[in-house]
Amino acid sequence: MPANKQTTTRNPKFRLIAVSHKYKLSILHYSTRTLYKAVMIKINQKIDQSLKHKTECLILPCLEIKKPTGLLKEIDDNLQGAISAAFGNKRFSGKPNQTLLLNSTGKASNILLLGMGNVKEVTAEKIRQAAATAVKVLEKSKFKSVAVDLSAFESLGNGGLYGELAGAVAEGAGLALYHFDNYKSKDEDDPPVRMEKLTLLTTSKTQQTTVEKSIARAEKIVNAVHIARDLISHPGNTVTPTYLAEHAKKMARKNKITCKVLGKKEMKKLGMGSLLGVAQGSDEPPALIVLEYKGAAKKMAPTVIVGKGITFDTGGISLKPGGSMDEMKMDMSGAATTLATLELVASLKLKANVVGIVAAAENMPSGSAIKPGDILKSMSGKTIEVLNTDAEGRLVLADALTYAQRYKPKEVIDLATLTGAVLHALGHQAAAVLGNNPAMIQKLKDAGEATGERVWELPLWEEHEKAMKSDIADLKNIASPGVGAGTTMGAAFLKPFAGDQPWTHIDIAGTAWGFDRPYTNKGASGFGVRLLLSYLEKNC
Ligand code: BES
Ligand code: ZN
Ligand code: ZN
Repeated sequence: MPANKQTTTRNPKFRLIAVSHKYKLSILHYSTRTLYKAVMIKINQKIDQSLKHKTECLILPCLEIKKPTGLLKEIDDNLQGAISAAFGNKRFSGKPNQTLLLNSTGKASNILLLGMGNVKEVTAEKIRQAAATAVKVLEKSKFKSVAVDLSAFESLGNGGLYGELAGAVAEGAGLALYHFDNYKSKDEDDPPVRMEKLTLLTTSKTQQTTVEKSIARAEKIVNAVHIARDLISHPGNTVTPTYLAEHAKKMARKNKITCKVLGKKEMKKLGMGSLLGVAQGSDEPPALIVLEYKGAAKKMAPTVIVGKGITFDTGGISLKPGGSMDEMKMDMSGAATTLATLELVASLKLKANVVGIVAAAENMPSGSAIKPGDILKSMSGKTIEVLNTDAEGRLVLADALTYAQRYKPKEVIDLATLTGAVLHALGHQAAAVLGNNPAMIQKLKDAGEATGERVWELPLWEEHEKAMKSDIADLKNIASPGVGAGTTMGAAFLKPFAGDQPWTHIDIAGTAWGFDRPYTNKGASGFGVRLLLSYLEKNC
């Protein structure tokens, strides 16, 4: 049995308690090995005083201050002035994400001072990052069970903020401890140490309830992001369009979501020549996955989220260079984000109607593949001259966006790893947003600031749209050489398919992989799940 059929599960209900659920599987028919199974840290809360709480390590969030006061001073006294010494010689001052690990002879065997920065600048995102930094440092030092003192948040404003910051600790920590080990054989002699438990310490009953709710919400968010990260991290020989469709069906069954999958035959009937054109070079059949979540009145027009699901992008006949082509397994990140967001929205019972559409195909060169110069007829009736088969994302999205019009949507958001050019513009720091409605873009920018999943607007003008007109068809899929503005050109191509309602295109080619935050790792980030949740929650 090939490994890909066996190693794919991260059971979302398997929240928590980590470690060694090892299981056997055979790889490539020959060998039997034990692989790592991804697990999640258990996060809980407890009413306890930090100084009386027994733990391997107590994390103490500290504001940027000159010398220890309050609880910090008390602990300092117990530690014979070790903390004031650290402040005195500038080894620690509470700057954002600064850490200092100290030995302790108290109930906590160790104490980790954790900087939160200036009191006026504390935000949920800063706390997410700080918590992520702390647990990463501690996991590296092989701590398995740690606690965080939340009392520093009490002075920071109203009760709402306290809950938000407690949630941010859980979210940042949960996100930071993601590991994708599914294909690694287990090293029995030196297994990697995984943090298993994080306890948030509160001091009152009211706080306890607030923190419990915040943890439950954070767990759902972390779980959804990890589902997206898993889908993206699996290689192209595991995650095919069919795999995405099966995943969507299973996920929909578990949640209150309806799911239908259109195959080649249905697509042909609908005239989806653009999507089918991309898929025709591959032996893997394409899939158009449609998910409907109804959390509001039936008559309310839905938000439609459309995701690019190219499960591997070789470039097709316009073949990509070999170096790091392997990373193109991540070209279905828009699809992963769409699927994970739908699941999250359902698990949080959002009062909104949300439709998810995934256009899934594999872009391969072969005797049956489309060639530069070929003309495709899209579902909208518009014809497209394919001048570069590597600009395939816009081709599959064109038909998915046309299909979205069936829902008479309130708004459409598409997510796609569409252009390498976005990396030149924004690096791994922000996704590009372009669209036809400035108010919608502003709301997405706000959601980006709140979640740390930043987006940055690029222009999309009439002149850009003109550059995508073909001499012999309605549109061409790349602009003429020298026109530049690669990311804008991708959006300019999509605009005629997106409808007249508000629409925003999010180019996540730079952020879906290698998004640079303390709570991300080297590879898949799951970028967009938290962004879209925040956007949807504020606008429903
Ligand atoms: N999937 C790529 C874009 C991409 C590049 C994603 C780097 C992630 C990292 C997309 O299909 C593509 O190949 N785009 C071309 C468009 C060009 C031919 C107009 C590109 O960006 O080079
Ligand atoms: Zn491509
Ligand atoms: Zn692509």
